[in-house]
Amino acid sequence: MKVVTIVGARPQFIKAAALSHVLRRQATEILVHTGQHYDESMSTVFFDELDIPPPDYNLEVGSGTHGAQTGAMLTKIEAVLLCEQPDWVLIYGDTNSTVAGALAAAKLHIRVAHVEAGLRSYNRVMPEEINRVVADHLSDLLFCPSQVAAEQLAREGITRGVHVVGDVMADILYRTLSRAQLKSDVLRRLSLIPKAYLLATIHRAENTDNPARLAAILTAFSDISETVLFPVHPRTRKAIADLGMIPAKNLQLIDPVGYMDMTWLVRNSRLVVTDSGGLQKEAYWLGIPCVTVRDETEWVETVQVGWNVITGADRQRIASAVCHMKVPEARPELYGSGNAAEVCVSFLSH
Ligand code: UD1
Ligand code: UDP
Repeated sequence: MKVVTIVGARPQFIKAAALSHVLRRQATEILVHTGQHYDESMSTVFFDELDIPPPDYNLEVGSGTHGAQTGAMLTKIEAVLLCEQPDWVLIYGDTNSTVAGALAAAKLHIRVAHVEAGLRSYNRVMPEEINRVVADHLSDLLFCPSQVAAEQLAREGITRGVHVVGDVMADILYRTLSRAQLKSDVLRRLSLIPKAYLLATIHRAENTDNPARLAAILTAFSDISETVLFPVHPRTRKAIADLGMIPAKNLQLIDPVGYMDMTWLVRNSRLVVTDSGGLQKEAYWLGIPCVTVRDETEWVETVQVGWNVITGADRQRIASAVCHMKVPEARPELYGSGNAAEVCVSFLSH
């Protein structure tokens, strides 16, 4: 069996790290990096830290408008697929790299397997929502992290090839935690005291491309008395500069960090404030309360069990949730037990 895996953005490197090693025990994997993310801190660091095999192809597509970026990926992925003739194309999540991989493969009648299928925000303003709807409808195997995701697919008429397998991000997190504890010196480096800081990440277009929302979030951070550690995505770095706001003294802006440091930062934070999909789940798995500065979430289960609160980009609601959020004792297992990669590979090879 030959599988072409398409990755391009930070969370996809992390997801591929969970699956690649398992897959390579029984298949030939050709790894394609579209080049969507290219900074050392957004790409190379994950390959190095997580022992992801080096990409067989780097398409070096880089940044651009949605059409230009996705179009360039489509052309280049098609050329790779024509050359490699794989049995499967494996795609992750909901980025432009995901949809380009799905479309290129489907048009060549190559079967598509989608990891993290069935997620929906029901908000088509999000580029990710368009990407995941298209990717799901073009996929032959759909690996869902939860029953809710499978039910959402069923409502769109997709029932064949759907499997609830859990989330590969849980696999890699559980595997990395003890290594992070041993190896990461991030708390010492940044002079942070465990449970005496908040960890924030913001990068969604809906927050970074809307100056009013971004300003409201940054102002909410300044209302908080604790240190807010904020590893800043390059997109957000530019948006903050354009806004011209001077960050409050309690806000510690740093460059994006590697996965090991990030895991340890989440684990030791008092609370996470984010618009990231991955981080909402990681906070939950590590038992850290999460405030999500979006108007909705795909990871509805984390809200239902009381560990995630949706505040939108509302200054008062963010500050109030950060100060007063109480989490329940119970933290039931969500999105699998950490063996999703094994299950995905078993379906691929049958
Ligand atoms: C993308 C995904 C988003 C995902 C996120 C993970 C799409 C539409 N969006 O958003 O779903 O949550 O990745 O982080 O695919 N940039 C750099 N260096 C880099 C990468 C990006 O400077 O290495 C800057 C560029 O100015 C670029 C901007 O960030 O224009 C946005 O990058 P892009 O990949 O288009 O989207 P993300 O916001 O990263
Ligand atoms: N992450 C990281 N370093 C950072 C910020 C995030 O390693 O500085 C990790 C985070 O722990 C999670 C993944 O990147 O595993 C999430 O990626 P991101 O928030 O960019 O994308 P999303 O999940 O929203 O698509």
